[in-house]
Amino acid sequence: MSKTILVIGSSGGLGNVISHWFAEKGFNLALHYNKHEPTVPAGNHKKYKADITDENQVQQLIKQVIADFGKIDVVINNAGISKSEMSWKTSAENWNQSLAVNLNGPFFVAKHVLPHMRTNNSGRIIFMSSVVAQTGFIGTAAYSASKAGLIGLTKTLAKENAAKNITINTIAPGYFSAGMIRDVSEELQEELKKFIPVGKLGNPNEIAALIDYIISDNASYLTGQVIGLNGGLHM
Ligand SMILES: NC(=O)c1ccc[n+]([C@@H]2O[C@H](COP(=O)([O-])OP(=O)(O)OC[C@H]3O[C@@H](n4cnc5c(N)ncnc54)[C@H](OP(=O)(O)O)[C@@H]3O)[C@@H](O)[C@H]2O)c1
Repeated sequence: MSKTILVIGSSGGLGNVISHWFAEKGFNLALHYNKHEPTVPAGNHKKYKADITDENQVQQLIKQVIADFGKIDVVINNAGISKSEMSWKTSAENWNQSLAVNLNGPFFVAKHVLPHMRTNNSGRIIFMSSVVAQTGFIGTAAYSASKAGLIGLTKTLAKENAAKNITINTIAPGYFSAGMIRDVSEELQEELKKFIPVGKLGNPNEIAALIDYIISDNASYLTGQVIGLNGGLHM
């Protein structure tokens, strides 16, 4: 029986690449989105709309995916927002919204899927942090704080669920050529490349390939880790 992957934030730039990667490999895909319906990859899939800042919507989402596919083997917690502003100009509203989407939402997803995975004695959860949680970056106070929160969450969830054959890991990407990079001007992208030791933006397929390894049977010993994929920006 094929594994079922729930992709939270499948409608975004990275989510789209990740979804197509796993559709081509024949996985069952539960494709979550919020405002933009994802483009449909081939294969067995269903789409689900939910605002992950609302715990009730998350609970319903998880229930519905289990009802439709019978199980959830893997969750890729990929939704996120980024607002660029200096810390001293960040409104409470923007701060709270960043924390709500980037930290509370992934927590709600994990909270509601874990009982199911614990019953199954099996599961993989992946969070999507960012290199800026490790290095800091001017103008990203709320974003970097929320993404750093995922790192602590990963380590605690990993310890709580290790004995149940559930691994929990975080990928901390650097700068990739899809998704949020659209908000960065060409000029700034050129500047960024000068600071990236490998001298280029990351290829989103490399994130999908890393996830492919993390969810494989060969990675049962990998848990509680923050895996940097950043072209040497942070070591
Ligand atoms: N791209 C990069 O270089 C990069 C680098 C480091 C980390 N990351 C992280 O990787 C993840 C994906 O990034 P991306 O570049 O693909 O971003 P993106 O294109 O902006 O996609 C963001 C995704 O988050 C979803 N989302 C936003 N608010 C939501 C809410 N309230 N409830 C549910 N879903 C919500 C969006 O859904 P809708 O569009 O349907 O509203 C979309 O699917 C993010 O967590 C980001 O922080 C990206």
